[in-house]
Amino acid sequence: MSDPMSDPMTGFDAIIARDQRVEPRDEMPDAYRATLIRQIAQHAHSEIIGMQPEGYWITRAPSLRRKAILLAKVQDEAGHGLYLYAAAETLGADRDDLTDALMSGRQKYSSIFNYPSLTFADVGVIGWLVDGAAICNQVPLCRTSYGPYARAMIRICKEESFHQRQGYELLMTMMRGTGSQREMVQDAVDRWWWPALMMFGPPDGESPNSARSMAWKIKRHTNDELRQRFVDMSVPQADALGVALPDPELRWNAERGRHDFGEIDWAEFRRVVGGDGPCNAERVAVRRAAHEDGAWVREAAAAHAAKSAGRAA
Ligand SMILES: [Fe+2]
Ligand SMILES: [Fe+2]
Repeated sequence: MSDPMSDPMTGFDAIIARDQRVEPRDEMPDAYRATLIRQIAQHAHSEIIGMQPEGYWITRAPSLRRKAILLAKVQDEAGHGLYLYAAAETLGADRDDLTDALMSGRQKYSSIFNYPSLTFADVGVIGWLVDGAAICNQVPLCRTSYGPYARAMIRICKEESFHQRQGYELLMTMMRGTGSQREMVQDAVDRWWWPALMMFGPPDGESPNSARSMAWKIKRHTNDELRQRFVDMSVPQADALGVALPDPELRWNAERGRHDFGEIDWAEFRRVVGGDGPCNAERVAVRRAAHEDGAWVREAAAAHAAKSAGRAA
């Protein structure tokens, strides 16, 4: 413990300056709380909506082994959503309100999940590139300044790393298969590469809240820095796999010691984030139907809890 007489900084500012964690009982600025609720909720929504493009393939998996792996992976994503909604609740957010915000479009989820998964190779590419990009984004969040969020991210990152490996292993297997399997993999890479780069958000110059999030140590690196890391990490993985990344401008820059890459289609990014992607309406409709179908479970659980509480009293 520091001596308040010798160190004038106390409370929230001191926790941030000393790189400690802010806990639910601590006082915090309203804007810090609101920023975190929004970020954690959008992250939770992304985990839940992200179950859909791969969940579609559970009943269509080519073998029992692939089905079991995919089922476990999609179930993990539901768990991630649960840890994150629970972390948002420690900030005073209401779970029903968050669910409603997702279903009504008041809050967003990662735009990557508005693209369709057309073949089983997409399952592998989602694991490799989408979970891979998520790892780049999320590993620094294990040190984010809000304690419950940081602790949730530690477990999530361990599971994401399994997800990425299973995706890569599936692609390796397909690349050792027939010519048409290799074509399926290349086609999936062509469709997912650019949307994966968009997962890091707008360029730094157009990311107005970034600086404040960095000052609060919610964020540790800028969007462009994380995107660059992801590109540098993916290039040798693509080489090992034997696929081409669909960017004619992608090349090693010896001076920078990093890869240069082409310009992202930001108009497409804005269009998909704005609701006009290939699957936006379907994703929200499926989520809403699942919520309505689950109403009897919530009612039964609430009735059971009330009965148990009555008995205990
Ligand atoms: Fe996840
Ligand atoms: Fe994942």
